[in-house]
Amino acid sequence: MSTNAHDDRNAAITPALLAWYDHSHRDFPWRIAPGSGLKGVRPNPYHVWLSEIMLQQTTVQAVRPYFLLFVERWPDVTALADADDEDIMKAWAGLGYYSRARNLKKCAESIARQYNGQFPDSEDVLKSLPGIGDYTAAAICAIAFNRHASVVDGNIERVIARLKKLTTPLPAAKPQIKEEMSRLTPTDRPGDFAQAMMDLGATICTPKRPACSRCPISGHCRVSGSPEVERFPFKAPKKQRPVRRGAAFVAVAPDGAVLVRRRIPTGLLGGMTEVPTSKWTAGQDGALGVEAAPFADNWRMAGTIKHVFTHFELRLDVYRADLAIKTNVEESWWSAKADLMQEALPTVMKKAIAIALKPV
Ligand code: ADE
Repeated sequence: MSTNAHDDRNAAITPALLAWYDHSHRDFPWRIAPGSGLKGVRPNPYHVWLSEIMLQQTTVQAVRPYFLLFVERWPDVTALADADDEDIMKAWAGLGYYSRARNLKKCAESIARQYNGQFPDSEDVLKSLPGIGDYTAAAICAIAFNRHASVVDGNIERVIARLKKLTTPLPAAKPQIKEEMSRLTPTDRPGDFAQAMMDLGATICTPKRPACSRCPISGHCRVSGSPEVERFPFKAPKKQRPVRRGAAFVAVAPDGAVLVRRRIPTGLLGGMTEVPTSKWTAGQDGALGVEAAPFADNWRMAGTIKHVFTHFELRLDVYRADLAIKTNVEESWWSAKADLMQEALPTVMKKAIAIALKPV
C-alpha cells in the first residue's frame, strides 16, 4: 500500500474513534470532559501524573479509591513532597509495586523544589524524573498538556496489533506500534485520542472475546470479527515464573498486638512493613521452616499462602505463636490490634496475618 493510501485509511480512524469516545468514554476522577482540550481547558497535571503512576500495573477499579484518598490528603504536588515517607507508604499499602510509591515521593520533591511545583510539559524533561518512563512521560504530555505524543500501553498495543494485523511478536513489535500510534494521533486532541484507545482496549477490543460488532473502527481493522482476533498481539513465549518458598512468623501478644518490622529500604517491597520471615529461596539452601523463627516459642503452623510477584511466585508457610508477654525483639515493634491494618503492610503480609489470625 502506498503511504498516501495508508494515511487516508488512518485519517478515517481517528475521527471515528474520537466520536465514539465523546459518548462512550469511562468516567474517572482524574479525567475531565472529552473535548475540553479544544477549549483550552486542561486537567490538573498533578492528577494526571498521580493516576498514571498508580495505573502502572494496576487496574482502574483498584486505583480509584487510592487516587481519591491521595488527592484529598495531599491536594497538590508540594503537599505530597512535604509528606512523611512513612505516611505515603501506608497510604499506598495494597496497591503493590512499592518502588512506585518511593519514586512518587522523590518525583514530587523534585517538581516542588526544582520546578517550583509546576509539572514540566516536555517528554524528555519528564523522563529525567524518578518513576517516569517513556509511557508515563507521553501520557502526561498528551493528557495534561494536549501535546502530540505517542502514548502506548498494553491496551493500545493490542488495539494496534489487531488493527494493522501485526505478526511481529511483542516486545519486538513495540517500535512499529509506537510509530503507528504516532501516525494515528491527531494534533488537536492527542490526550483524548490516547484515552479513547485505552478505553476501546479495555471495554471493546478486550484480550478475550472482543466485541468487534460494537467497535467504532471495525471497518478499518484487518482482523475484525475473524476467529484469529484473540491471537493478536503475537507475543514471544513467556518464561515460566519460578517458585520461591519461605516461612512467616506471626507473634501475637496477650492484648492482640502483632510483632512487625521494617524491610530494608531498597529492593522488593523496600521500606514496607512485614512480620518476621525467613529468606525466600528457590532451593533448599536456607532455613525455611520454624527454625527460621525470630525466637524460640510454641510456633504452630497456621497455613500456607501464595502470592504472585512479577518475577516469581512465593509460597509462605505461616506460623503463629501466642506469647504470654511482649518480648522485645531487635528492630521490631508491637503493632496494636487497632493499628495493624494502618501499617504499611503489602498484600502478601496482609494475607499472612489474616491466615494466622483466622479463628480456628
Ligand atoms: N490506564 C492508564 N492510564 C489510563 C487513563 N488515563 N485512562 C484509562 N486507563 C488508563
